[in-house]
Amino acid sequence: MSLEDIKSDIKAIVAEKDCGPIFIRLSWHDAGVFSTGKLTGGCPNAAMRFTDGGEGTFGANAGLPTVALDLLKPVTDKYCPASISHADLWTLVANVAIETMGGPAIPTKFGRKDAATSAESVESQVGRLPDGDKGCPHLREIFHPKGFSDKDIVALSGAHTVGKCHGDRSGFDGKWTENHLKFDNSYFTEMLSKEYADETTAAGCPQKKHAASGTIMLISDLALLEAPFREHVELYAKDQEAFFKDFVTVWVKLQENGCTGLRDTL
Ligand code: HEM
Repeated sequence: MSLEDIKSDIKAIVAEKDCGPIFIRLSWHDAGVFSTGKLTGGCPNAAMRFTDGGEGTFGANAGLPTVALDLLKPVTDKYCPASISHADLWTLVANVAIETMGGPAIPTKFGRKDAATSAESVESQVGRLPDGDKGCPHLREIFHPKGFSDKDIVALSGAHTVGKCHGDRSGFDGKWTENHLKFDNSYFTEMLSKEYADETTAAGCPQKKHAASGTIMLISDLALLEAPFREHVELYAKDQEAFFKDFVTVWVKLQENGCTGLRDTL
């Protein structure tokens, strides 16, 4: 078994099931609970795979312990934990998905330790993961204690260039971009060029919709059009390479937040 074997199994699932976006969200929500300051801890540890309590039961993670982990099950059964930890696999899966969908190549480090039970989850999602119906002050409250600047928040949000919101998971509904399976800078170009109107989803969530194409933006996405976030949106819309370069830096930092002793090889 080599790293290339695992990657090729992941690529096959991403290609066959078009499930790259939910694999990115899986890695982001595992790593994204990390915080310093009032809340501490939360390094990526795959605690979400337990559904008797903790991260696997957080509303913010709806669809991840079920849909995402079901899709990944053949790979998990084959390689975890003997060849790779669950938390490392989730990191790798996201990075392979991003590259497979046309995004940048991302270096993956290994050595994340898996939670043994749900008790190793963070206490709650409050203050850990962002809400889509809130604006800039909320984004700063969530992301600054993870070590991310306003510019980093813009680069990370660019991941919404792929994937969609599901009414039965988050309550929001629709895809952000017209080609939701291509990882490029269209999140930024579309956000700047389209006009959005208020909409309430069937689940009662407020979001913004572009009538002609049916694409959506969350309130938290369009908040990035405010200064000082906006200048970075404008740069990434003009220059996809700049987006990719900054995205890789902040994404790798997110995936390694709170981890110690990571290594370059499996
Ligand atoms: C900035 C604050 C953020 C908010 C408020 C937010 C909110 C959301 C919501 C509500 C969904 C829909 C979930 C569903 O219904 O299936 C979603 C999906 C997604 N998010 Fe975010 N997110 C944020 C940041 C991020 C970051 C930092 C990343 C990764 C770098 C990311 C990657 C994704 C992806 C790829 C999906 C699509 C999942 C799918 O298609 O199943 N998001 N996000």
